[in-house]
Amino acid sequence: MVSRVIPVDPFDLVIFGGTGDLARRKILPGLYRRFLAGQMPADSRIIGAARAELDDAGFQKMVAEAIAEFVPAERQDKAAIKAFLDRVGYVSIDAKGTGGWDALKSRMRENVVRAFYFSVAPALFGDLAERLHSHGIADAWSRIVVEKPFGRDLASAKALNAVLAEHFDEHQIYRIDHYLGKETVQNLMAVRFANILFEPLWKAEYIDHVQITVAETVGVEGRGAYYDKSGAMRDMVQNHLMQLLCLIAMEPPYHFDPDAVRDEKLKVIRALDAVKPEDIVRGQYLAGGGQGGYLEHCEDPNSRTESYIALKCHISNWRWKGTPFYLRTGKRLRSRASEIAITFKEPPHSIFDDAKGWRENVLVIRLQPNEGMNLMMMIKEPGPGGMRLMQVPLDMSFADALGADAEDIPDAYERLIMDVIRGNQTLFMRGDEVEAAWAWADPIIAGWEARGDRPQGYDPGSSGPEDALMLMHRDGRRWREIKG
Ligand SMILES: NC(=O)c1ccc[n+]([C@@H]2O[C@H](COP(=O)([O-])OP(=O)(O)OC[C@H]3O[C@@H](n4cnc5c(N)ncnc54)[C@H](OP(=O)(O)O)[C@@H]3O)[C@@H](O)[C@H]2O)c1
Repeated sequence: MVSRVIPVDPFDLVIFGGTGDLARRKILPGLYRRFLAGQMPADSRIIGAARAELDDAGFQKMVAEAIAEFVPAERQDKAAIKAFLDRVGYVSIDAKGTGGWDALKSRMRENVVRAFYFSVAPALFGDLAERLHSHGIADAWSRIVVEKPFGRDLASAKALNAVLAEHFDEHQIYRIDHYLGKETVQNLMAVRFANILFEPLWKAEYIDHVQITVAETVGVEGRGAYYDKSGAMRDMVQNHLMQLLCLIAMEPPYHFDPDAVRDEKLKVIRALDAVKPEDIVRGQYLAGGGQGGYLEHCEDPNSRTESYIALKCHISNWRWKGTPFYLRTGKRLRSRASEIAITFKEPPHSIFDDAKGWRENVLVIRLQPNEGMNLMMMIKEPGPGGMRLMQVPLDMSFADALGADAEDIPDAYERLIMDVIRGNQTLFMRGDEVEAAWAWADPIIAGWEARGDRPQGYDPGSSGPEDALMLMHRDGRRWREIKG
């Protein structure tokens, strides 16, 4: 049932930061899986680049170890791994230095797609972009992929956009948000725009509210000092949750075309109202269960950075005026669960005067775990007890619907890298989108910094701070249970 794998054009993909954590955990194992699936053409090449003094064999060994560690055992095929490694090479390069660039240039071939993955700190983006050009390695058809974080505020995002724009056109720049590569997220667009069923109801008149939840069970231990400079707003809301909100709220684009989709997302961000201070709750997880709390993990006992945030926002346009969007994300919560829940309003008139058990229709889109969708419907409770209503889910789990084929669904990184090679920017953020999202987030962050607000403590394994519950209760609503 999974669609045919369509091979992409042959490519030379250079991964700057090829020895780093992201390359080892996601990018290289993902490329191996695409090779195994027959999507990566045999005459493609992957070139790792970093400062470490390695030769091709040394890097291939590292890639083999990454595959052994991060690809499920049943997908590890000895012959395929060897064939994949034959296509992997390495060049030692310091992004800020002069050595190695000619060696890289000599590895690049004509008449194949050239892509450069910047899997390094954003501070190096400008150096890489400049050197790729000055050494004649990148041309007008080359693509660059840049990782988050894309700035930490509007000013730094603008500066990053400007530095990239000096050497690359916008159509060559692929800003990755791996949430957009998730199967269910794309399905959100299919559900909305390939069915007549929901679109007529997709507006404030029929939708009571929307909840977007991204909950994690892990804390920030091990990378607390790094995380403390960003926090949940910068790390999750400004990018991932904002992108999800855009896909739910946007108008139908005229075509499934990169700029048409991104134009509509941009309009949503621009229509977001400023968020009132009383509509935001921030939290920090406390110690518990034998584990340290956020303040210990971030190594700053006075830190005011949030590991949890919940907020209510409004979109001021014709479609959404009056429908609140509640967003929450946090670490060390009860379960690892990400979902979007769209709660519909009551029918205008109930014919079941004394019927018990009525609840709202809710469309739940689960991003993880167990990707799929649920539509909560009302039916009559079976049996002779009169007209009693009960809520039942129309459940579509991808794993159930697709059976064994579900295992072949590419993960977000795999899909997005193949989109880069195809030259399809639909699932990547455009520069103006990123800037608009920071323009919305900046005053919120500035507000709590100016007031010196402290996040509220919350218990590990809970659903977050008490005040986050109140954020919903005072509107007569409640958060959905965080269930893994
Ligand atoms: N890890 C994740 O899950 C994740 C998720 C989302 C986004 N990101 C982003 O992805 C980027 C990479 O993250 P990471 O976790 O892989 O970092 P990392 O483990 O610290 O790796 C950094 C890589 O950059 C290379 N590097 C550092 N300085 C360099 C220089 N001057 N010239 C050339 N190469 C240099 C390092 O190798 P050498 O030291 O040998 O040069 C290493 O390969 C960061 O921007 C991060 O924010 C990471």
